[in-house]
Amino acid sequence: MALFKKKEKQDYSGLVLPEHIGIIMDGNGRWAKSRMLPRSAGHRAGAKVFRTITRYCSDIGIKYLTVYAFSTENWRRPADEVSALMRLFKDYLEEALSDFKDDTIVVRFIGDKSQFDDDLRALMVENEEESKDRDGMVLNIAMNYGSRDELVRAVKSISEGVKDGSIDINSIDEKTVSDHLYTAGQPDPDLIIRPSGEYRISNFMLWQAAYTEFVIMNKLWPDFTTDDLDEAIKLFNQRNRRFGGV
Ligand code: IPE
Ligand code: IPE
Ligand code: MG
Repeated sequence: MALFKKKEKQDYSGLVLPEHIGIIMDGNGRWAKSRMLPRSAGHRAGAKVFRTITRYCSDIGIKYLTVYAFSTENWRRPADEVSALMRLFKDYLEEALSDFKDDTIVVRFIGDKSQFDDDLRALMVENEEESKDRDGMVLNIAMNYGSRDELVRAVKSISEGVKDGSIDINSIDEKTVSDHLYTAGQPDPDLIIRPSGEYRISNFMLWQAAYTEFVIMNKLWPDFTTDDLDEAIKLFNQRNRRFGGV
């Protein structure tokens, strides 16, 4: 049974929902390998779980969900795996446009869109446009996202501002940097979940995760369920966040 009731901030046992959850959707390849299937089958299974978890987060009242779908380093994978992933992204974005018309979810992409082919980029832009005035959960899909790349872009853009006089160098502070990231205007993630048992951040939200709580789970992403999400939220509630204080 789902732990959280629809659209309620707290469940019966008084758990607090994180405002922003990040998920590093990892383990598709190992899931496929253990079934002697091609890696693309793992990505297909992972894409299904992504749909279920996104819907669940929206239903229980999460305000921001950021999913790591494809990193700036994932282009290093074999061409057939990359093209299978691009196909799955297209399928999802076409489905979102045709079937999710009445949805409340705001879809945003974080990452560099310029490296995707024209069709895929057009679908990304269309999904953003179509959903931008909705009032529900913000879903950031990190595609061709790398946090170091994001920071380099921020440095360049701030430097441009200094050069053209729109930014005073003495006024640059942490907010200036945050405001030049893909996540500008959004709260930092409270909780980042990494399935598949890897204890690393793999270039995900390095700046934004300064005080994020991490939950590493041993399940592979295609096996991840809404109960696992409940479990991660329960673990999050047991943490004592101090933000450097006492
Ligand atoms: C995550 O699963 C999906 C992407 C990175 C695109 P992986 O494909 O990394 O799966 P493992 O880590 O090899 O099992
Ligand atoms: C992180 O997973 C990226 C995504 C889940 C999209 P990777 O599988 O690429 O990370 P590493 O290689 O294990 O660090
Ligand atoms: Mg992986």
